[in-house]
Amino acid sequence: MKQMHLMALLMHTPINHMMMSWADPQDKRVEQLGSLQAWQAFAQKLEQGFFDGMFFADIPTAHDNYHDRTDEAVRYGVCWPAHDPVALVGAMAAATSHIGFATTVSVSALHPYQLVRTISTLDYLTGGRVGWNVVTGHSRSEHRAFGLPQMDHDERYARAQEFLEICYALWDGIPPEAILVDKENGVFADPERIRKVRFDGKYLKCHATPAVLPSPQGRPVIFQAGSSGPGLRFAADHADVVFSLQREFPAMINVIDQLKSAAIERGRTRPVNVAFGFQIVVGSTEGEAEQRSRRLIGKIPVEAALARASGTLGIDLGQVDIDKPMQEMDTQASRGTMAAIAKMFGKSNKTIRQVIAESGQAIGFPQLIGTPEQLADKLESMWRKSQCHGFILSPAISHWDLEVFVDEVVPLLQRRGIYRQAYEANSLRGNLLN
Ligand SMILES: Cc1cc2nc3c(=O)[nH]c(=O)nc-3n(C[C@H](O)[C@H](O)[C@H](O)COP(=O)(O)O)c2cc1C
Repeated sequence: MKQMHLMALLMHTPINHMMMSWADPQDKRVEQLGSLQAWQAFAQKLEQGFFDGMFFADIPTAHDNYHDRTDEAVRYGVCWPAHDPVALVGAMAAATSHIGFATTVSVSALHPYQLVRTISTLDYLTGGRVGWNVVTGHSRSEHRAFGLPQMDHDERYARAQEFLEICYALWDGIPPEAILVDKENGVFADPERIRKVRFDGKYLKCHATPAVLPSPQGRPVIFQAGSSGPGLRFAADHADVVFSLQREFPAMINVIDQLKSAAIERGRTRPVNVAFGFQIVVGSTEGEAEQRSRRLIGKIPVEAALARASGTLGIDLGQVDIDKPMQEMDTQASRGTMAAIAKMFGKSNKTIRQVIAESGQAIGFPQLIGTPEQLADKLESMWRKSQCHGFILSPAISHWDLEVFVDEVVPLLQRRGIYRQAYEANSLRGNLLN
């Protein structure tokens, strides 16, 4: 029977989506930041709850759009420090046996040969438990850090297409029969069977002999979160799982339908899997959970929220009148996040100041607030009605909300027969895409 899939969304920074959560006495993210043991224990906890995987969002550099500086991001720990999530995977995989690890890596500054070498080596070492969230690099600071010009939105996707073509060529270049490891005759592999890569594109070149052995899952699982026209087409071409932010059923169903149409148009034959992101706030009563959410939001300085929103939206909100009503603005950065925020507040007539203060709780992430029973009800109902693949859950408080989720929500979902009691496979692909 079809079952609900769950991933835990994390960032290798002091916060996830709730700004200033690091300063809450209940939050342990800062204590965890430099402790491999703490990350390992958390991965084990999520494995106890049979999560398909941990999904790491990532912006590799401090947001710098607000007033053209990083001061607010640094002062308030807004995704700064920005540690590399890829560096965590080996340690967490060594302490677990089934849970998968998907990391976001932007294609803008890396060459695909380097990306495949790192991610696929981890995939090989973990027996196929690795995923990659492909992002095109919407952050201006990322380009400044690497000394690169920032391409415009649609061109970034055109370059990303070439990037993925090279990745496939590298991933598919070593068929199993090419590896002989014939100790008697001293032959490691048959060079005739290794498919060399010769790629000369508009943006990228690669001439190489593929260098990393495939894992049992073949290649890493691909995630994607773009939701503009080019983003949807890119997802239809490449994503095993598409990550989307929608708060209403009609919008959820609309995204799934759009992706299915794009998939048909692009000749995709495998199923389209869409997972919806939510920030979770769990309490022993609904009132307690709501109070906690309000307490957290109440501590967010407007400048911290403006710094992050400016970075994500690619707009300097220091230069606009934030007391004017919020409306969708054109951006070369994340059109998906812009649309999510505009949709969330579009009809409310709220000012940019109010919208930004409120979205500081989750920067476009819809919230699920309530008791374990209420969360189980909402997730089950959304899953059944939208027929989505599952959910990517970001804790308001690290790691409190996810730990309570494992202890109190997972058993409810299991009792309802819609969530696994044991892993089906040893690889991320085998569990997540079954
Ligand atoms: C739910 C969601 C999560 C995202 N996570 C990241 C991330 O971790 N790192 C990043 O650089 N971009 C992230 N993005 C940005 C997208 O991957 C994409 O590059 C951006 O939305 C621009 O594409 P679009 O205009 O097609 O939406 C995210 C976007 C959404 C909607």
